[in-house]
Amino acid sequence: MSVKLGVNIDHIATLRQARQVGYPNLLTAGKLAKEHGADFIVMHLRHDRRHIQDADVKNLVKNLKLPIHVEMAATTEMQKIALKIKPNSVCIVPEKPNELTTEGGLKLTPASIKKIKSFITALHKKNIKASLFLDPNLKDIQTAKDIGSDIVELSTKKYSECKTFKQTSKEIEVLTKASLLVNKLKMELHSGHGLDYENVQEIATLPKMKCLNIGFSIISRSLFSGFGNAIEEMKNLIK
Ligand code: PXP
Repeated sequence: MSVKLGVNIDHIATLRQARQVGYPNLLTAGKLAKEHGADFIVMHLRHDRRHIQDADVKNLVKNLKLPIHVEMAATTEMQKIALKIKPNSVCIVPEKPNELTTEGGLKLTPASIKKIKSFITALHKKNIKASLFLDPNLKDIQTAKDIGSDIVELSTKKYSECKTFKQTSKEIEVLTKASLLVNKLKMELHSGHGLDYENVQEIATLPKMKCLNIGFSIISRSLFSGFGNAIEEMKNLIK
């Protein structure tokens, strides 16, 4: 079965926010992504609203006939927004104010686990699927199951930063073990972060990989080859 592609459009919003003149339009991007094979649209609503705005999430959930997957931190503010707008799924991610991008998986501590568990319960009451962004760590994956997560998105940040064949092979081994546990615990397996046209295929073949969420490399390639072509090329690599 082919792996689904979630196209993250945060950086189309980054471009729009640079001028704040209403374009490039995110709904147009979502429609184009759908036409060219995207299975999901992914958006990260950050506390600082540096790219995606609340109105973008609302607009795409209402008007795009494609599942919308929203990434957000486990805060009271974000929980309220998710329950009101009701995207198809929410991925709970860690967030730091000055980071360039998400820096890895959630740090699960007794306090954060309590907060995340209550967020997941609230999402389920509104029929929204819950995903946790995790480093490939077996203990965290078991915790995700224990607190009711439907999906685990394994972070490929470390994998994408590997410089040698040896490092890459080791990281693939770690990701494979983590994937097998996600499979065994009957959660959906997703993955993402730093995936590009060179490194994506090994991740697409992890056991029972269901969906890859990819943003920066697709949006970057779009500048030279067009958004539709960039999506089609990525889809061809993971099918
Ligand atoms: N998955 C998660 C949880 C993320 O936070 C990000 C970055 O927003 C991505 C996937 C996509 O990463 P990239 O833009 O490097 O493809």
